Amino acid sequence: MATGAESGRRLRVGLLGTGGVASKYAALYGEYPRSLLVALHDPFDPGAGELAARFGGRVAASVEDLIASDIDAVVISTPNPLHLAQASAALKAGRHVLLQKPMTVTLAQAEELERVAEDSGKVLALYMNSLDNPVFRDLRRMITEGVLGKVGSINCKLANGMGHVWRNRPANFWRGSRAAVGGGSFAMLACHYLNLAQWLLDQPIIRTTAIGTNLMCDHIEGDDLMSAIVEFAGGELGVIEAAWCVKGEQMSLHGSAGSFAYIDNSVVTMKADSPFIGEAIRYETPGTRVVLDGLLAPAMSDWTNPYNQHRCFVDAMLDGTPVPMPAGKGVQDMRVLDAAYRSSAGAVHVAVHVAIHVADDGAVAEAVA
Ligand SMILES: NC(=O)c1ccc[n+]([C@@H]2O[C@H](COP(=O)([O-])OP(=O)(O)OC[C@H]3O[C@@H](n4cnc5c(N)ncnc54)[C@H](O)[C@@H]3O)[C@@H](O)[C@H]2O)c1
Repeated sequence: MATGAESGRRLRVGLLGTGGVASKYAALYGEYPRSLLVALHDPFDPGAGELAARFGGRVAASVEDLIASDIDAVVISTPNPLHLAQASAALKAGRHVLLQKPMTVTLAQAEELERVAEDSGKVLALYMNSLDNPVFRDLRRMITEGVLGKVGSINCKLANGMGHVWRNRPANFWRGSRAAVGGGSFAMLACHYLNLAQWLLDQPIIRTTAIGTNLMCDHIEGDDLMSAIVEFAGGELGVIEAAWCVKGEQMSLHGSAGSFAYIDNSVVTMKADSPFIGEAIRYETPGTRVVLDGLLAPAMSDWTNPYNQHRCFVDAMLDGTPVPMPAGKGVQDMRVLDAAYRSSAGAVHVAVHVAIHVADDGAVAEAVA
């Protein structure tokens, strides 16, 4: 039987949620030559019809109607509390699912969703847009090839200041609810970097101690500022921080033979003992600190980027290859979020109980704790 790649078949996709960040995805599924936008559903987005008119597909009347469409996969970009029910319904109906972070609002929900996916025999993948970025691909290769020596620590901060913008939102604005978000700024923002940090080091986080607070945004229930110290299975330490009340993004990684920092999604500064030639980063002057500017993260809708995570999902489904971010990694992220929030609430160190380590290809590899 011909594979998708051989037959030229296109993955038939439905979008659940089109109004927020997903408005950037319709173009990709409509324009990528290996996918077809078949249906869209968003009960509150007046723009769904326009997206359908521009990029294809019909506007489905309900979640059930969308899932019952002639589609292979559903891309879910709805508020966090809807993820478990919507993803479960799609999987049980025989659809593959690409789901936004955080996977669910609680660890128990994430574990339940993973079981539903296993029982369905369909693929549940997590969408992590950091992996679109060739800078992080280069950094992972740098680590693997020992350009920075033995890595000892990683520091990540994602802060967007959006809490102030939300001051005049209605009381039922879902990001203002601790229960709907699954915490606060840390659940929504730090999950990007704790996922990336574990991917870069290829190690699960096994222990954390955290402090969360609401410093400036009392119109929001959850934390608007939170920091977690984390320990990886290999012994490396890290600090992961998130904030809705202040601004700025940066990630730095420190090894025995060099250091690397990526600031505000555009500037890299690094110094190492050996050269490195990557796709985005050229480092040809060992022993010298360089500043490389203009390394902007690629647009989320750019299907010509071979690392675009929507494109990679489509390719994996058609070619029968592993997805970049299998559900098991999303569950691990939820374990860390859960442990960090318990630590913050109890001001104690809390172990992350990792029963298994999920390898990049989704295989259960080994017990790590
Ligand atoms: N990967 C990223 O870069 C990124 C960025 C932002 C948000 N997110 C994640 O994406 C998800 C959505 O976030 P957002 O910022 O787009 O939120 P949003 O509130 O801006 O948009 C959510 C959309 O879902 C729609 N919706 C609500 N109920 C629905 C239902 N029953 N069926 C279908 N659609 C429904 C809403 O009408 C709205 O258009 C969240 O899980 C969030 O964490 C990811």
